[in-house]
Amino acid sequence: MKKTEVAPSEGKLGIMVVGCGAVATTFMTGVLMARKGLAKPVGSMTQYDKIRVGRGAEKQYLHYKDIVPLADLNDIVFGTWDVYPQNAYQAAVYAEVLKAKDIEPVRDELEAIRPMKAAFDKNYAKRLDGDNVKTCATRWEMAEELREDIRRFKKEQDCSRIVVIWAASTEIYVPYDEKVHKTLEQLETAMKADDREHIAPSMCYAYAALTEGCPFIMGAPNTTVDIPAMWELAEKTRMPISGKDFKTGQTLVKSGFAPIIKTRCLGLDGWFSTNILGNRDGLVLDEPANFHTKEVSKLSTLETICKADDQPDLYGDIYHKVRINYYPPRNDNKEAGTTSTSSDGWAIRCR
Ligand SMILES: NC(=O)c1ccc[n+]([C@@H]2O[C@H](COP(=O)([O-])OP(=O)(O)OC[C@H]3O[C@@H](n4cnc5c(N)ncnc54)[C@H](O)[C@@H]3O)[C@@H](O)[C@H]2O)c1
Repeated sequence: MKKTEVAPSEGKLGIMVVGCGAVATTFMTGVLMARKGLAKPVGSMTQYDKIRVGRGAEKQYLHYKDIVPLADLNDIVFGTWDVYPQNAYQAAVYAEVLKAKDIEPVRDELEAIRPMKAAFDKNYAKRLDGDNVKTCATRWEMAEELREDIRRFKKEQDCSRIVVIWAASTEIYVPYDEKVHKTLEQLETAMKADDREHIAPSMCYAYAALTEGCPFIMGAPNTTVDIPAMWELAEKTRMPISGKDFKTGQTLVKSGFAPIIKTRCLGLDGWFSTNILGNRDGLVLDEPANFHTKEVSKLSTLETICKADDQPDLYGDIYHKVRINYYPPRNDNKEAGTTSTSSDGWAIRCR
């Protein structure tokens, strides 16, 4: 087996999550419960999946941690930023993804995870009105304050390394602009000039993370790290970027079905899907400018697999409709309103 050049995963790993909502608190609670042996990390590829290594008599199936150095769950420390000041326990209860039996055993640890002030601009998520927000004169200052947060967290928690994950609301769609997003120099100039139209708060988080030597993962469909300027920064700092969107709910179904349809050369007439969201994610996505970001990302999943150019007879004219239904949470009707993760409905029509 080829020897890995990845540095050993020694010391504590700080996972700083942007947004302390449904996804973030479910992730945190899962890790905390699993490491106490109170839950199984079902759904976690790093904990369960195996990869085949070697051939013939040498063939063996190994967990990821046996191939590359990976942090142990016991070495993880969580930090977070959010527009709302509720700690991770309060946020997990509000999210209603997990039941009390899943949350209470790690209540103390969750209560200790308190959001730092968010780098936020209401124009990017109009429906949110929390006040746990930084006051920054420019986008550059926003990034500088985030860098300071990362340094302080790393020191206070005695972490040897940090990774930053965006699990915050989907921002409005920011299209690629050649004059701002092409080079790192352009991006930095625009941040200093406080170009709020082209520099989303998420770009400040990504910029801060990469500059501080932290990998950045984009869990929303935002275009944050889809721009050459960010790739340049990632190359310069030799930090990985990944994303976008977590591809967990409806998108996962699409990613699974599309290859089946393609492999069997079935034609596709249409794909119709609905996400039913009752949490802040749904509230934010109820705004057309924010929904557009999700829509663009979801459309691309199907169309990169079933390509019209390759097979015009089969995929030449797919009717594709994605809807997100938001049901405001109502305490009197749990079923209709308060589901926090997406509950997906979908239909396909084959030729
Ligand atoms: N829930 C799912 O199954 C799922 C699947 C794939 C992708 N996603 C994406 O993951 C993200 C999180 O989803 P969720 O269900 O946890 O949503 P959520 O609404 O429960 O949580 C998002 C949190 O982000 C905070 N926030 C918004 N802007 C912020 C900023 N600039 N800085 C810091 N905090 C900010 C909000 O106040 C909120 O608490 C969304 O973008 C969503 O589209 C969710």
